[in-house]
Order: sequence, then structure tokens, then C-alpha cells
Amino acid sequence: MNIISVKNYQEMSKVAAEMLIEKLSATGVNVMGLATGGTPEGMYKQLVKLASERNFSFKDIHTVNLDEYVGLSDEHPNSYHTYMRNHLFDHIDIPDANTHLPNGLAENLDGECERYEKMITDLEQVNIQLLGIGANGHIGFNEPGTSFNSKTQVVQLAESTREANARFFENEAEVPTHAITMGIQTIMESKEIVLLASGSSKAEALYELICGKQVTEKVPATVLQRHPNLTVIADEEALHLVNSVQHS
Ligand code: GLP
Repeated sequence: MNIISVKNYQEMSKVAAEMLIEKLSATGVNVMGLATGGTPEGMYKQLVKLASERNFSFKDIHTVNLDEYVGLSDEHPNSYHTYMRNHLFDHIDIPDANTHLPNGLAENLDGECERYEKMITDLEQVNIQLLGIGANGHIGFNEPGTSFNSKTQVVQLAESTREANARFFENEAEVPTHAITMGIQTIMESKEIVLLASGSSKAEALYELICGKQVTEKVPATVLQRHPNLTVIADEEALHLVNSVQHS
């Protein structure tokens, strides 16, 4: 595990964008897994800026997002489809057909999960997967207790996750109760993972991921200890528990 410690959110966003664009410039890297949430917003802004400054083209890149809320249409202001258009897709030259997110309005949700998983398999491998982390240690929307063998699936959101995400909605009641998410096994199959974390609310989850003695389904992010190519880019607040233990 490679840990990059940065000062704050702004530095995390810059360092991550620089790293991503460099990796995407390498030959053979054409599938990027994407995350949503507050954490990567600044990184997307920097990525758009760097791509424009360096004339970097996304026309041969495919993106696969981790998750989408069940019950929200592509056009819903809080859907992850809308998030991705607003923060990235509308500002780069990626063809629409190359961007992939689960369909939260699918009539047959299990069928949609199978379609999504097959789409990822058909792309062969996610070269680089971007991740955030939930305060309870979730990755994607895989909440505590999710099997490490899970593939793309429908999940029920933890109340704490709905509370945390209520800030993006009018109120908590508007936050969907379910989501479609890549499974933990799906995430672990990506060649390389870059996880971003900022702020003290992530300190406990990050401590478990980096220093946790047990790899346990109770804290989904601990599975990442087993990934052969993981980079964590985290700021001082998010790393404060890790640092306090290492310095004691
Ligand atoms: C969300 C997403 C995750 C994200 C996490 C943290 O609900 N499904 O992919 O990493 O929770 O979100 P945030 O970055 O807003 O703290």
C-alpha cells in the first residue's frame, strides 16, 4: 500500500488529478473506474483543467462508475449520472457511449446488475479505479456486512449513509433507500486502485483500512489491504488517527 499524505483537500485534489492524468497517458490504460460524493469533486475540477492545459483527449477512454441510486432517473438532479455530467463528462471530449453507470430505473434490477457486471467484464479490466470511503468504511455503496465475494448488486443503504448524503438532497427523506453498486469482488478485480480521503470524519475508517489488524466484512474497506496495487491519497485530518498511532 502506497500512502501519500497531503496537507488538505485542495492538495489532495491536485495530487490525485496529476496522478490520474499521468496514468491515463500510459499506453494500454483506457478503462477508468469512477467514484462520486463530495471527496472527488475537487479532483474532477483539477482533472478537467489539466486535460485542457495539456490537450489530453478522453476519446478512447471508457469510464465505469461505482454506483447509482435506485429510483432516480438519469436526469434527476441528485443522480450520479447528473453528478458525472456536471463534474466531468460535460467538460471533456469523452463520447457518451464510453461512459457507463448503472440504470437506477431499470424494471428488472437484478438483470441490470448482471448487465453491468458483464459490461465491465467485456471491457476486460478496469485499469485504474478511483474510490472514496464512507465514514463507516463502505466502498462504493457496499455497507458493513457485505460479502467480499460480491459482484454488482442492489444494496440497502445504511441509515448513517443516508444521513451523510442528505446534504446533497432537500432533506433526508428524499435520499433513496437502495442503490446499485459494483460489488467488493468487482472493485478488487481492478488492476490499480486510488483511494481519496479528506477530513476527520474519515479518520476512523482510514485507520481501519491502513492499520486495522483484521480484514473484516464489518469494515468493507479493510479488504483493500489485500489489493496488490493500492494508493491512498489522504489529508492530515483524515490521517490523524493513523499518524497519532505511528508517532506514539
Ligand atoms: C458515497 C458513495 C461512495 C463515496 C462515499 C463517501 O455515498 N457511494 O462512493 O466514496 O459515500 O462520500 P463523500 O465523498 O461524499 O464523503
